[in-house]
Amino acid sequence: MRLIIDTDTAGDDAFSILLALKTPGVTLEAITICNGNVDFSQQTENALYTLEVAGYSDKVPVYQGCPLPLLRKEVDATEFFGVDGMSDAHFPKAKQRPESKHAVDAIIDLVMSNPGEIDILAQAPLTNIATAYAKEPRIVKALRHLWIMGGTDNSLGNTTPASEFNFYVDPEAAKMVINAGFRQTLSTWTLTMNSGILPQEALARIEAMNTPLSRFFMTVSQAPFKRTKVRYGSPLSTHPDSLTCACAIDESLILEAADCLVDVETGSELTRAYSSICVPLDEEQAKIDKLWPAGKPNCRVIKKADTDRFAEKL
Ligand code: BDR
Ligand code: CA
Repeated sequence: MRLIIDTDTAGDDAFSILLALKTPGVTLEAITICNGNVDFSQQTENALYTLEVAGYSDKVPVYQGCPLPLLRKEVDATEFFGVDGMSDAHFPKAKQRPESKHAVDAIIDLVMSNPGEIDILAQAPLTNIATAYAKEPRIVKALRHLWIMGGTDNSLGNTTPASEFNFYVDPEAAKMVINAGFRQTLSTWTLTMNSGILPQEALARIEAMNTPLSRFFMTVSQAPFKRTKVRYGSPLSTHPDSLTCACAIDESLILEAADCLVDVETGSELTRAYSSICVPLDEEQAKIDKLWPAGKPNCRVIKKADTDRFAEKL
């Protein structure tokens, strides 16, 4: 599998990159940085440091993309990941530097010169992907598959009751991408809460390994532990990005999925970025049930994933 990871690199984003790097058969072609979790250039440094700690310095190019959402003011998640996105570990600067090419052009060039071969894992707000689509709409057909971490599946969000962070930061980009016609799979915050929380035994195993990567994992996890304790009553090891990556890399981890009609709310402030997800009605049903969404599904939505096998992979 040839993969581009589009990321706002902080905690779990970094673990997802590690998962892709360390999985045989996966070639990480590029890392592209999008606005999101923390300061834009800090996210770039986090991606470069992650490559270095994994022994992949200068093996994967890192491109910087859009530092701002399309329309909205910047929103970050420093209260979740720490100001540096890495639980304020303040890691040293990596040797590798980012490329000068813009991430949007890197995405377009890679996808268009390898039709049907590249998958994108979009684990950040969708600004870079929406901009690439606006600049070169033919990427919709040339991309093999788009894996999106974002939205909620008829349950509470993590940023507001109505919405999940990646969609909340850039709802217009999310709406554009979801409706663009990509072959795509959505991994929601709801899925993370159901299937993407690392069990205590798995965490203990990682900690006991006491390798550079396991120490990296435990260090970077500390701020999210504190934050989830406040929100959910106990420290949770939540892995939205890594779970999406794991499902992309090995689809047998997907235990249940449904072809759905997905759309994103951009008009309301109260329900900003709410993701409407349902199985659409067919023509006959739509004649009776006039207000329910009808038509063709535009997205596969993962409903359940194999938590034990995910934990094992991670
Ligand atoms: C998503 O938002 C970000 O804070 C995480 O990195 C993840 O991509 C979860 O809602
Ligand atoms: Ca992310």
